[in-house]
Amino acid sequence: MLLSSKSFARAAAISLFSLSSFSTLFHQAQASAVSSVGTRNIVPTKRATVCNGHAELCGKGYGTVAFVGAHDSYAIGVNNAAVNQDQNITTQLNDGVRMLQMQAHEESGVLTLCHTSCVLYNGGTLQAYLTTVKTWLDANPNEVLSLLIVNIDNAPASAYDTVFKSVGLDAVSFAPASSPLTASSWPTLGSMIDSGKRLVTFLDNGADPSIPYLIDEFTNIWETAFDVTDPSFDCNVNRTKGDTSTQMYLINHFLDTFLFGQLVPDVALANVTNAASGPGSLGAQVQTCTTQNTRPPNFLLVDFYEFGGGSVFQVAATINGVQYSPTTPVASPLPTGSGQAGGPGTTTTSPANDASPLAHLSAISAVTLSIIFGAFIAV
Ligand SMILES: *[C@@H]1O[C@H](CO)[C@@H](O)[C@H](O)[C@H]1NC(C)=O
Ligand SMILES: *[C@@H]1O[C@H](CO)[C@@H](O)[C@H](O)[C@H]1NC(C)=O
Ligand SMILES: *[C@@H]1O[C@H](CO)[C@@H](O)[C@H](O)[C@H]1NC(C)=O
Repeated sequence: MLLSSKSFARAAAISLFSLSSFSTLFHQAQASAVSSVGTRNIVPTKRATVCNGHAELCGKGYGTVAFVGAHDSYAIGVNNAAVNQDQNITTQLNDGVRMLQMQAHEESGVLTLCHTSCVLYNGGTLQAYLTTVKTWLDANPNEVLSLLIVNIDNAPASAYDTVFKSVGLDAVSFAPASSPLTASSWPTLGSMIDSGKRLVTFLDNGADPSIPYLIDEFTNIWETAFDVTDPSFDCNVNRTKGDTSTQMYLINHFLDTFLFGQLVPDVALANVTNAASGPGSLGAQVQTCTTQNTRPPNFLLVDFYEFGGGSVFQVAATINGVQYSPTTPVASPLPTGSGQAGGPGTTTTSPANDASPLAHLSAISAVTLSIIFGAFIAV
């Protein structure tokens, strides 16, 4: 994009008043410089001016931005103890979720998104899920999105590579030149968007350097404890394989409770847990973590993200120093008893799931099954 000198001067004037716009200006100035040296044979360089909804984020490194993540993003439904979200993937993304976490199982040789067990909750194939993600990414070219895949059956990275290639997501995936990267070494959101490599995928295990876009999680990211039942949410390191002083970090800010001895999401407290402030809130944990670690978390993983009416996005915006002002309000929590229990909801291409009576578990039968199948893990 070529800035006129007039608009450049105006932008410069604005920067005198707003330090936070400096990085944006820098990004635009670079764009201007690149374009002005261009001669006959040089195709003008397209530069993003709004990144993940904000001009200010274009010049910020990926490892210094906070993103809201949906824990078990594919485990969707209401009145079902095995779900962690009640909005479908497209709605999650439209509302502002920028990390999708999921658990992939090998079910009859096919990578399938299940919760603890495919009998307990089957969210359809990884391929169908990623097709939805690809459609959304294509429709939203100025967005950087992350995926966090729990590779629970330790499938080889090549199996994921095959699925990513089949839906064309390998072509938009960011592959670091080396891994791990420290939080401050990641490229800017602007450069990721400009290069078209704006999907960042982490595997919790099984990453293979020969497929560099499937990035090892724990050498790049450390995590706080998960399956937490204490609403005080500490910020201690729970899992890492790297140097926590320089890695990005993720907070598991979802509250569980015991139901008949099994851990299940504490939906009744979701509004409080997701709130921007107050005891047990996301905002409170971010403050604790920022103080304890001298920098804020990168990924805020939550359940039922829309409880709180957008408060989780407000918390991320505050970290990022931007204004949270959505053009449309986030989805409303689905009322319990609305009859959408356990529907996979992520895709229209998995009729096998819809046909399965087990995909429509009531809370009681989910818990009963969880007892039959042993410990119900809410991870
Ligand atoms: C996702 O949810 C939204 C809002 O409830 C709905 O309009 C849309 O049709 C859903 N998409 C799919 C693929 O189910
Ligand atoms: C990490 O969290 C899990 C689940 O809360 C817990 O069982 C485990 O003991 C924790 N590990 C460490 C090292 O803190
Ligand atoms: C959460 O808040 C919303 C609106 O603020 C309300 O509609 C909903 O019933 C609340 N849910 C719970 C479980 O308190």
